[in-house]
Amino acid sequence: MKLVVLGGAGSQALYGIRDLINHGSIFDEVVISSRNLEKNKKIVEKLNSPIVKAAEVDVSDQAALYELIKDCDVVANCTGPYHILAYKIIETTIKAGKHYIDFCDDIEAFNNIFESELPKKAEEKGLSMIMGLGASPGFLSILACSAEQRYFDSLKEAIFYFACDEKEPGGPAVLGHMLECIHNAPYIKDGEKFNEPSFREEWDFDFGEPYGVRKVTRIGHPEVFTFPRYSPGIQNVSIRFSLEPFSAYEGFRDLSLAGLTSNHKLNINGNPVSPRDFALAVLLAQKASQPVMTEEELKEFLKGVTACAATELHGKKDGKDISYIGRVAGNMAPLTAIPLIIGAEMLGKGEISKKGIMVAEEAIEDADKFVKETIKRIRQDGFGFKIREELTLREEY
Ligand SMILES: NC(=O)c1ccc[n+]([C@@H]2O[C@H](COP(=O)([O-])OP(=O)(O)OC[C@H]3O[C@@H](n4cnc5c(N)ncnc54)[C@H](OP(=O)(O)O)[C@@H]3O)[C@@H](O)[C@H]2O)c1
Repeated sequence: MKLVVLGGAGSQALYGIRDLINHGSIFDEVVISSRNLEKNKKIVEKLNSPIVKAAEVDVSDQAALYELIKDCDVVANCTGPYHILAYKIIETTIKAGKHYIDFCDDIEAFNNIFESELPKKAEEKGLSMIMGLGASPGFLSILACSAEQRYFDSLKEAIFYFACDEKEPGGPAVLGHMLECIHNAPYIKDGEKFNEPSFREEWDFDFGEPYGVRKVTRIGHPEVFTFPRYSPGIQNVSIRFSLEPFSAYEGFRDLSLAGLTSNHKLNINGNPVSPRDFALAVLLAQKASQPVMTEEELKEFLKGVTACAATELHGKKDGKDISYIGRVAGNMAPLTAIPLIIGAEMLGKGEISKKGIMVAEEAIEDADKFVKETIKRIRQDGFGFKIREELTLREEY
């Protein structure tokens, strides 16, 4: 069975490829593809596995993409930014008649794709196509489904949290995406959708060890779109984030409050430049001036906790108020890529029964099993991972 991983040499995807090699798999051929064949070849050489091969494609060239995927079984899309690339990739994958998975974390991509003809076309062709099976959305939202199925009769509120070390692996797409996510931060309150930039409201949240209590603010993230598809009656949904160190969080707060995330073009010396273009250029220049971690340094860095996250739920059980918090501590990149690889294997084995384009919460029916399998594999791959669940039942006499 053949898996094609678009963006397979990316900062997140590689953790999934290594997991797939470590665990043996139904895939006996795995193709890592991006626009840079030489880089992919070097990575394949280092991975030293007979099943992994290198290829080259620019995914915006739909004819070339079709040629690459036409004889595979599953397409995993780890490229980004998703709001620019995902639509055409899904369109081509439907044309080629292949199952599909990604870890899209871009709300605009979800809106565009689900409003289009693509879900109907995928269903007509009997394809299973899963969007958003990474860390968040992905593991955190599946953890919420698992907790909901274990403890709740009904849900009123879901809040997702993540806090990440700014040195976590992330490609060039990440900073631009971050500015978009703090400019447009939709949330659902009392059943109604609102949208406002981050940092206008902040809370203190206890992530547990080692990050402890942190300032968090809302961030534009797809769970506002994905989770209500699983839990349609939910009244409140929001996603809140922080950064390590706190100065990185404050830096984004300063940019946001100064209006530097706006996309409105200004005329600067005859050139149309938006405040966001300027902010992104400065951030990229700052990043480029910092030393890049060597592979050994990165390995050492990832031995510690570099990201914390949590799922908080409120609802009812047997007529009583019940609250749940599941806190996790580990590393963001394996937590992003390993769920995607497990999902790709499920697609290959025919374990995803639903057809059409689905969010991860709709696709994964046995959420508890999925959560346990992800945790087991992250630990077996040698990464630290802690999870702690707390349940509070309130009764009034
Ligand atoms: N759901 C989650 O929990 C989660 C978590 C983290 C990240 N993400 C998302 O995952 C995406 C990838 O993140 P990352 O940190 O891995 O980024 P990255 O390191 O930049 O990786 C992106 C990969 O896509 C390839 N690529 C980009 N444009 C392409 C094109 N036109 N044609 C073919 N290949 C292309 C890149 O290779 P070349 O440039 O060599 O072509 C690279 O291999 C981002 O959109 C990010 O927002 C999701």
